[in-house]
Amino acid sequence: FKARKPENEVVLSYEKDSAERISLKAKLSELKQQQLEIPLIIGGKEIYTGNIQKCVVPHNKNHVLATYHMAGEKEVKAAIEAALEAKKEWVKMPWHHRASIFLKAAELLAGPWRMTLNAATMLGQSKTAYQAEIDSACELIDFLRFNVYFMSEIYNEQIISTNESWNRIEYRPLEGFVFAVTPFNFTAIGGNLSIAPALMGNTVLWKPAGTSIYSNYFIMKLLQEAGLPDGVINFVPGAGNLIGNVVFNNECFGGIHFTGSTEVFNSMWKIIGENIDKYKSYPRIVGETGGKDFVFAHKDADVNRLVTALIRGAFEYQGQKCSAASRAYIPESLWPAVKYKLMGEAATIRVGDVEDFTNFMGAVIDKNSFDRIKGYIDYAHNSHEAEIIFGGNCDDSAGYFIEPTIIVAQNPYFKTMTEEIFGPVLTIYVYADDKLEETLRICNESTPYGLTGSIFSQNRRALVEMENMLDYAAGNLYINDKPTGAVVGQQPFGGGRASGTNDKAGSKLNLLRWVSPRVIKETF
Ligand code: SER
Repeated sequence: FKARKPENEVVLSYEKDSAERISLKAKLSELKQQQLEIPLIIGGKEIYTGNIQKCVVPHNKNHVLATYHMAGEKEVKAAIEAALEAKKEWVKMPWHHRASIFLKAAELLAGPWRMTLNAATMLGQSKTAYQAEIDSACELIDFLRFNVYFMSEIYNEQIISTNESWNRIEYRPLEGFVFAVTPFNFTAIGGNLSIAPALMGNTVLWKPAGTSIYSNYFIMKLLQEAGLPDGVINFVPGAGNLIGNVVFNNECFGGIHFTGSTEVFNSMWKIIGENIDKYKSYPRIVGETGGKDFVFAHKDADVNRLVTALIRGAFEYQGQKCSAASRAYIPESLWPAVKYKLMGEAATIRVGDVEDFTNFMGAVIDKNSFDRIKGYIDYAHNSHEAEIIFGGNCDDSAGYFIEPTIIVAQNPYFKTMTEEIFGPVLTIYVYADDKLEETLRICNESTPYGLTGSIFSQNRRALVEMENMLDYAAGNLYINDKPTGAVVGQQPFGGGRASGTNDKAGSKLNLLRWVSPRVIKETF
């Protein structure tokens, strides 16, 4: 039997006096009053190691939201054991029963858990209500439902049998266990990276990013409530190096599902390479990494749509989406109109506490990010090759606040045009209208990345030219729209080059990475 194709979860508006705003506010107060102590969850058991760290609110850095326990070598080994033990039963469970557990999680999240996850994401990761809603509610619900749909398509695919031979294909999980390493910037990605392999019959050791442990812990509790058997997903906060060392030295390491920086992914890949003789099977390496996502405007682009894309693409969630617009190429003839409108729009952006629903931006995630982003702004400030035309102020006295910042660079290879910043900083290069081709080439070749990008034109011939010239510059390319906000089931997400293995989150392609099929031929 087949699963029905789901609809995308409807995004709630949280407008003033709406029922959802009232209940979200109540949940925010409730969570702020609790002092959670977050354990590891291994084989369904809560483990308190005593090696404790704090979860702080990025926009109110003195507010300690919770504490969490960090794994040591012993706990990582225990988590691997628990995963391998749980796998014995999990693989035997018919796939439609596995599906039921995740569909139930989707229903709980669409209902009673929605406000908990959204409030946790707002407090722990400084997302506005809208940004939390499209992430920890809608995107995670969509991942759960669509993955079940794609899974059902996969399990229903069979190969040709003839009169003489009966051929079957079994989509078995990978041999061993899967390691999920997840980022802070999307609660939904945190969930999906462990859920997708688990759905396909794998068991998982999940290492969430230190800065999103708060919301990620609630996902773990939600999955438990939905009936996930003990040990299928093991929640293991801790230091990346320590956990990686134990995992990559284990002969049963079967694959990694990663989202994070290119640097970390590359170093993991090298360690896996060095250990390759140890493993029972070649591990699956699936990763989404860095980006330097672009907006490229042709001279006949619609200025209003272009500016909306720049503002939303660059500054929503403080520019901390892997898909965020961080460099733009604008033709000289369009620049005065674009600049005028862009400055006007940027001036309306309010930055501050995300619990004030009128703020469009919160704080960046932590002190490290704040310092790194500020470093880029200072660099531009001190350079003769660039001018900061908007923003540029950074203030970490109460929380890690950085103004939306717009830089104009005279040189398309300027540092902030080519390096990933991961913050609310947009750098613009204004090109001569007759240098379209040359500028497209620069856009395509000036960074090692290939995640997302947008092209703007009202001329079909120009769109075709841009699309062709920017061949591998983006795994997700948008025409006349912002480069962020891929919707599960509509725009499967991921890029190539230094942006990852392009195994499209929320698609059949991704789920197929978590199986090791066996083909069986029987003759009569
Ligand atoms: N999927 C997100 C987006 O498209 C990025 O991870 O914005």
